Amino acid sequence: MRDMALETPPDITVSGLSKVFGHGPEAVRAITDANLTLAQGEFLSLLGPSGCGKTTLLRIIAGLESPSAGEVLVRGRPVWPGGRRSAAATRPVSMMFQEARLFPWFTVAENVALPLRTAGVGRRERMERARRICAAVGLERFTDHSPGQLSGGMRQRASLARALVTDPQVLLLDEPFGALDAMTRDTLNMELLEVCARANVTTILVTHSIAEAAFLSDRVAVLASRPARIVETVDIPFARPRSLDLQRSGAFQDMVAGLRHTLTKGAA
Ligand SMILES: Nc1ncnc2c1ncn2[C@@H]1O[C@H](COP(=O)(O)OP(=O)(O)OP(=O)(O)O)[C@@H](O)[C@H]1O
Ligand SMILES: [Mg+2]
Repeated sequence: MRDMALETPPDITVSGLSKVFGHGPEAVRAITDANLTLAQGEFLSLLGPSGCGKTTLLRIIAGLESPSAGEVLVRGRPVWPGGRRSAAATRPVSMMFQEARLFPWFTVAENVALPLRTAGVGRRERMERARRICAAVGLERFTDHSPGQLSGGMRQRASLARALVTDPQVLLLDEPFGALDAMTRDTLNMELLEVCARANVTTILVTHSIAEAAFLSDRVAVLASRPARIVETVDIPFARPRSLDLQRSGAFQDMVAGLRHTLTKGAA
């Protein structure tokens, strides 16, 4: 990854980014002077306590929230030039939210196809692409169901499919599988790794699970609150492709222990 970063310009650059909500004594510092660079195809996780600004950071990169200071570049383009969102800069970016946010009156495939409708793709093509991506995440038999007929895990798959349907170059995932049982989560994480590797997507994942961060990522940024900031970025050197067996190795458990230590140190 690092060699790649030297050869090509970074896919995402976050520099001197700060966000303050509100004014005066009521002001909340959600992020303080965050700096990050991601090479194309790199997988970074954000790990940190509740309220340390993880969602806010993703929302600023996605163009959903404006920064108070600093800059975000996606493929060299500023996301917030002059404090205004650039549609061109955020076009390659997809964000998956913590809740599935599916519309109950649309079928699964129609929900998945929605970003393509917004992008002006015709119905026939968008439904075809939606069905293809549904199959890729294991939902081929449920494309004509309504979201209410799906289990929680299936709804998250649909939400992931919707994030992937536009062939994003940058994927932002906010605790995507947090509410699921451990086995479903393992399955979805393996699928996520395959999809990201196949499409060479640059990914930022927010998670509360240290093991999940260590298993999925090339690097983990550990955040702390009060003030909300990135305290350390840790390289995860395990070879890819990774299998679930990796989690049983001593090296993996040492990595998890090290990350836990960094997280606790940041909280102190
Ligand atoms: N729209 C907003 N208006 C005011 N304060 C906000 C807003 N959004 C977030 N905050 C505050 O900014 C801080 C960071 O919030 P954020 O949602 O980014 O945290 P987080 O790290 O994602 O937390 P969690 O792990 O609980 O999801 C919190 O103190 C929160 O109360
Ligand atoms: Mg959050």
